[in-house]
Amino acid sequence: MTIGRALKIGQRLLINSTSPILDTEVLLSYVLDCARTNLITKSKLGLNYRQLVKFLYLILKRRLNWPVAYLVGCKEFYGRNFVVNKDVLVPRPASELLVEETIDLVKRLANQQNYVIEIGTGSGCIAISLMFALPQTKIIATDISSSALKIARLNAKNYKINHQLEFIAGDMLTPLLEHKNCLMDSLIIANPPYLLPSEITKTLRFEPKIALLDGAGSLNWYKKLFSQIAGLTPTNRPRALILEINPLTSDSLVTLIKNILPLCQVDVKNDLSGFKRILTVSLAKNNE
Ligand SMILES: C[S@@+](CC[C@H](N)C(=O)[O-])C[C@H]1O[C@@H](n2cnc3c(N)ncnc32)[C@H](O)[C@@H]1O
Repeated sequence: MTIGRALKIGQRLLINSTSPILDTEVLLSYVLDCARTNLITKSKLGLNYRQLVKFLYLILKRRLNWPVAYLVGCKEFYGRNFVVNKDVLVPRPASELLVEETIDLVKRLANQQNYVIEIGTGSGCIAISLMFALPQTKIIATDISSSALKIARLNAKNYKINHQLEFIAGDMLTPLLEHKNCLMDSLIIANPPYLLPSEITKTLRFEPKIALLDGAGSLNWYKKLFSQIAGLTPTNRPRALILEINPLTSDSLVTLIKNILPLCQVDVKNDLSGFKRILTVSLAKNNE
């Protein structure tokens, strides 16, 4: 079978995907180990038997809604490729805004904050992107999932920055509480599991539940984080939090913060589609 014919068959089999052409091209270029842009010029060349079987196998998995990123083992985020597998969330373009807001704030603070701490790093795509953009900044990335941290460490190693970035396993701020000096004056950033159960579609079922859903309710994750911060003495508190949020729960989230950290300042920013997406919380030192 020629490459041109394989592309046509793939697209037809993926007609129910939201992006049949792109998916087919990405899967075929992965199988042939060539750039997607070269497929057209090579369209008259043939696939060998092994390539054809592998291509059709991947197409069939995609038909069952497997994310393309898991099938090819990587995903682009903020201009770089990251290794992904079923233990980590597939990085989302929406989270690039969190990277940009963090870079912005660090620059505005002239790097006067202590650490930048990412809670729930998954593949490490956000922390690693920040490390490249802010090489002078001390960054710690944590996750409750040790299998996710394995992938994050692998990505940092692939980019040869594993000695600059610190990865710590644990729940929320708990592993950092023993090192209070790292929390003091830090920036805490996160895009936590924030979907509502009603938002889990069949296309999301391959990603780790712990990355998508907060079992105890969609605001529980934030509630625990704010309560941990409220429990710190004012001098040990972070300077600010930058959080990616679910637009559907943004108003209740602002009310929740104001209840737990009454003196903080809250700023909500929209994403490019006009949805409330980023919440920046500035903490006053005398917040009780
Ligand atoms: C929505 S994913 C984001 C992953 C990554 N930052 C990204 O953008 O691809 C949320 C991450 O938080 C982690 N997580 C969930 N609950 C946690 C907790 N209590 N403490 C630390 N990490 C947690 C999950 O394992 C998952 O990797």
